[in-house]
Amino acid sequence: MTKRIIAYCRLKPFHLDQLRQRFHVDYFETLQSTDDPGFREALGQAHGLVGSSLVISPALLDHAPHLKAIATVSVGYDNYPVEALTRRGILLCNTPDVLTETTADTGFLLIMATARRAIELADLVKRGDWTTSIGEAHFGTDVHGKTLGMIGFGRIGAGVARRGALGFGMRVLYACSSPKPELERELGAVRCELDELLAQADFVCVTVPLTPATTHLIGKREFGLMKPSAIFVNIARGKVVDESALIAALEMGEIHAAGLDVFEQEPLSPESPLPHMTNVVALPHVGSATHETRDAMAQRAVDNITLALEGERPLSLVNEAAWGSLTP
Ligand code: DGY
Repeated sequence: MTKRIIAYCRLKPFHLDQLRQRFHVDYFETLQSTDDPGFREALGQAHGLVGSSLVISPALLDHAPHLKAIATVSVGYDNYPVEALTRRGILLCNTPDVLTETTADTGFLLIMATARRAIELADLVKRGDWTTSIGEAHFGTDVHGKTLGMIGFGRIGAGVARRGALGFGMRVLYACSSPKPELERELGAVRCELDELLAQADFVCVTVPLTPATTHLIGKREFGLMKPSAIFVNIARGKVVDESALIAALEMGEIHAAGLDVFEQEPLSPESPLPHMTNVVALPHVGSATHETRDAMAQRAVDNITLALEGERPLSLVNEAAWGSLTP
């Protein structure tokens, strides 16, 4: 019997063709909601899902009696009910590794753009307001030689730190639940408590995954501990930060600037003051958004769902405990 999958994110013909060679594919290029009647109908017969972004709730699984595997086209999986999936023996696969360097590039892009006020100054030129040589009012701040504080020191965090330490001579501090002796040797990174990092870092960069423990990890108290000259960068998930506390910290000059790729609500509400602040660089969640990396992520998801539904171990499995309960 040909297995059925639902692909609910935009995929290139090359990736869709690979799926169609093996599976019956219900394709929803731009699915806005899991309440979509067509999606619900397909879900009732689906063995696999390939997609990203939408929240898959535990209740939705009641409508997917044949579901065996999900391949998300992302490394983050905070929008999936991992425990409920594991209880039902449904594999959840993600796309680590292939996006590490691109996302670390985005982190460093935000560090550079905020420190050197790149967007604000480019806008000034665009408006035709470059009428005299630029003076102190438009100077930026150095990145090289400064202290970079990494909150989270996994693959992406290490990638940002590597750029800082090796490319820009930065001193690296990190706050992380487990020590990373190899990175300490490679980068001279020093592990410290979060509060100490916040007090010392010139650049505070968040790369932790979103979990109940990291929700609003950075809020009023934490911004209060940062230097008034600190630049805050978030390439993890918006909900790791209490966004109203961030806005207040920027408005009150408690911190100097922020570079943000992620927000509590995405797409960002038009009411948000963040993109209108001159000391904020706001990007539309594009950490991994290059042609090469998005292709590699899609390929990883195609490979993951194919392996999982053919009874083989997927390349990147989130819920190890579900492995073994899958019958091909
Ligand atoms: C990821 O892969 O988790 C990135 O944030 C893109 O969603």
